[in-house]
Amino acid sequence: MNLMVFGAPGAGKGTQAKFLIEKYDIPQISTGDILRAAIADKTDMGMEAKNFMDAGKLVPDSTIIGIIKDRLAQDDCKKGFILDGFPRTLGQAEALSELMSNMNISLDKVISLNVPDELIVGRITGRRVCSSCGASFHVDFNPSKKEDICDYCESELIIRKDDNAETVKSRLGAYHDQTAPLIDFYTKMGVMVELDGTKDVSEVTADMFTALSK
Ligand code: AP5
Ligand code: ZN
Repeated sequence: MNLMVFGAPGAGKGTQAKFLIEKYDIPQISTGDILRAAIADKTDMGMEAKNFMDAGKLVPDSTIIGIIKDRLAQDDCKKGFILDGFPRTLGQAEALSELMSNMNISLDKVISLNVPDELIVGRITGRRVCSSCGASFHVDFNPSKKEDICDYCESELIIRKDDNAETVKSRLGAYHDQTAPLIDFYTKMGVMVELDGTKDVSEVTADMFTALSK
């Protein structure tokens, strides 16, 4: 199964991707997580990406497409994968189509989580993420069982550097200008599934699995 979770920052892509990993036993490919790991490792790519991410802007397509090309070539992607936070521009979407066509594979479904902007700020400012596995929690809507400890791997939960009210505005701007047009791109491809992402986490998960079973 080759899947994509799509939506605005804070729409719940990472949260729902974790349930897809458990159900289908396929890897999640989050460009955001890969870039944050590169920043932590102080690689050249990480240092270049950091300024864009801290400002809530998109990292250049050439960097992102290179990341995806390397990641999809790895053995664990042969059984399928979940793209999370990629693609975010038409250029990235076209590069992905070409890459997948060269690999003789295709996208099965794009799960779009629809959440209006006015709910996004509260979701992002209340988010806590695992410092080790990247899992997302929310202080009110999706709390971890033990405060500040990850349910999956027991590592410490932290606040992401770009999770502040100011940066969220730029991230939403980038989403509407550069990423939202991809809804049309994937609708025309016939793989788009639009879900109401404002429901509770478990209801969104149930709707997603129903859509995937069709
Ligand atoms: P990235 O890490 O991809 O961030 P994002 O798209 O802004 O998305 P988030 O991770 O913030 O949100 P999410 O949808 O995964 O939500 P979550 O499940 O955590 O990218 C960061 C930066 O990296 C970008 O700004 C850019 O600079 C760069 N970048 C990355 N990819 C790139 C690319 N392809 N091209 C160019 N640049 C790129 O949920 C959010 C919160 O809400 C959590 O607290 C969660 O617990 C809670 N929540 C989830 N679901 C629900 C629900 N149903 N009800 C209530 N609360 C919920
Ligand atoms: Zn964890």
